[in-house]
Amino acid sequence: MAALSGYPSLADLSGRDFLSSADVSGEQTTALLDLAADLKAGRMSIDLSGKVLGLIFSKASTRTRVSFTVAMARLGGQTIDLNPQVSQVGRGEPVADTARVLSRYVDVLSIRTFAQEELAEYAHWASIPVVNALTDLEHPCQALADYLTLQEAFGAVDGLTLSYVGDGNNVAHSLMLCGALLGVNVRVGCPQGYAPSEAVLQQSRALAGDRCSIEVVHEPVAAVRGAHALYTDVWASMGQEEEKGEREQAFAGWCLNEDLVAEADPRAIVLHCLPAYRGLEISAGAMEGSSSRIFDQAENRLHAQQALLAALLSES
Ligand code: CP
Ligand code: NVA
Repeated sequence: MAALSGYPSLADLSGRDFLSSADVSGEQTTALLDLAADLKAGRMSIDLSGKVLGLIFSKASTRTRVSFTVAMARLGGQTIDLNPQVSQVGRGEPVADTARVLSRYVDVLSIRTFAQEELAEYAHWASIPVVNALTDLEHPCQALADYLTLQEAFGAVDGLTLSYVGDGNNVAHSLMLCGALLGVNVRVGCPQGYAPSEAVLQQSRALAGDRCSIEVVHEPVAAVRGAHALYTDVWASMGQEEEKGEREQAFAGWCLNEDLVAEADPRAIVLHCLPAYRGLEISAGAMEGSSSRIFDQAENRLHAQQALLAALLSES
């Protein structure tokens, strides 16, 4: 069982759900990043032997599925893949029944689905922690890895500016909320009509207070100027496949390319949650250039999720 005495703020996360970046405090987010860095550097070890993670993924995944599975293995625990194709979830067994049954077998559930409300329903019925592995609204595990990558590049994230260029989607929402908790200025640049949710924008600004700014702009150069991190994601998320052509037209001129990188701070890093479409939301040059930390970022999913699992499964 995990002992997290060096991270007092994480004690309150024991047994809790992680459905949104805003489900934890700024202090807890910082502690999760610090624990992740300590685990990555081998300064800390956690024992989750005997603990079992269940994965219910209703959408495709490479990074999240594999990084959660490997995270549990490295901590001494196990994972069971319960995706709808192999479980009764796909036959329509009610969430209320699935969540209560699985709570009798496994210790934590990581769920990827469409509606945030479905995730919340799992959390309502489950007596174990439920983790958001991506919904249409948020991708909070991704944001932890993203800010860990920024922290590695700059030593600390407080006061930095992260520019997200692209669709105001799930990834953007969690970057806004998590950035607000960490004191990062988050600037979202997007075409008109593709802005983040107004509710998430207001929530992020409330969390940020006077410490940092959360902005939305509609011009690419204004979005990236002077930023310390440039971030993008696909223009059509999972579930929006039929809008792909229409979105490619709407996002013309919004490719994160070398010209935009040149407008940022000279030390700026380039991030993308992946999977990426080179030549659409990001150029091959920006992706493979010397500023790119995209593959460190992908690796950091593993370390950030180890920290999260340790916190949720720690002794209260
Ligand atoms: N970034 C991310 O969540 O990737 P997957 O869809 O492959 O899990
Ligand atoms: N916004 C993307 C992220 C994929 C990791 C999607 O939801 O498909």
